[in-house]
Amino acid sequence: MKLRILTRNEIDREIADIFIDVVNNKPGSILGLATGSSPLGVYKNLVNAFKEGKVSFKNVKSFNLDEYVGLDGNHDQSYRYFMNTNLFNHIDIDKNNTNVPNGLGNVELNAKQYDKMIEAAGGIDLQILGIGSNGHIAFNEPGTSFNSLTHIVELTQQTRNDNARFFASINEVPTHAITMGLASIMKAKKIVLIATGANKAQAIKTLMDDEPNVELPASILRRHKDCTIFVDQEAASLLKK
Ligand code: GLP
Repeated sequence: MKLRILTRNEIDREIADIFIDVVNNKPGSILGLATGSSPLGVYKNLVNAFKEGKVSFKNVKSFNLDEYVGLDGNHDQSYRYFMNTNLFNHIDIDKNNTNVPNGLGNVELNAKQYDKMIEAAGGIDLQILGIGSNGHIAFNEPGTSFNSLTHIVELTQQTRNDNARFFASINEVPTHAITMGLASIMKAKKIVLIATGANKAQAIKTLMDDEPNVELPASILRRHKDCTIFVDQEAASLLKK
């Protein structure tokens, strides 16, 4: 696992360039995408690169990490809506080739099928991740098995509080989510993780200092052979110099 300490703008540019390289080298790439504020700048850069003719997503397939249970894709806090409005609507990707876990209907079955769909597509070439303040990746909360595949989770109070700012009130934040598991994420050929801001500093310190431990889900990434953690100065503030 590599660590890069950069400014927010540099992180957004570097990771967008990694995406562009991967897609230009393999136009039928399978991209693993994330929601949250962390990847937003990368997505903006990708939209700009597409508009400038530097990359096409025509043959790309994508798989998102997670979705709230109970929200349909038209709900403005659903992750499907987030992906459409922040990326898919502005590039030439075929929406039929974009996948977000389905948080409606038989969610257990949807979860079971998701890893099979990723595998059938050929596996994820490049996965982007954010990190929760408690060290979660996707919605894999502390304590999640390192062997987990896509599954349904009950969100912790901390995660619901962190995400409450996007909803009218905490009561409207869903209690459950469908998420790719830690083993599903580890299958990606290449992984980049973004952590910016002081509220990620403790998670980043534990990630860099300690051995992999289920109490910090992101720590499984230490076992990945091509994973880079991109942090800004604030998120790096508790690291030993
Ligand atoms: C949510 C998402 C995660 C994301 C995390 C951090 O809980 N499920 O995938 O990494 O929030 O969000 P942000 O990037 O807004 O800090």
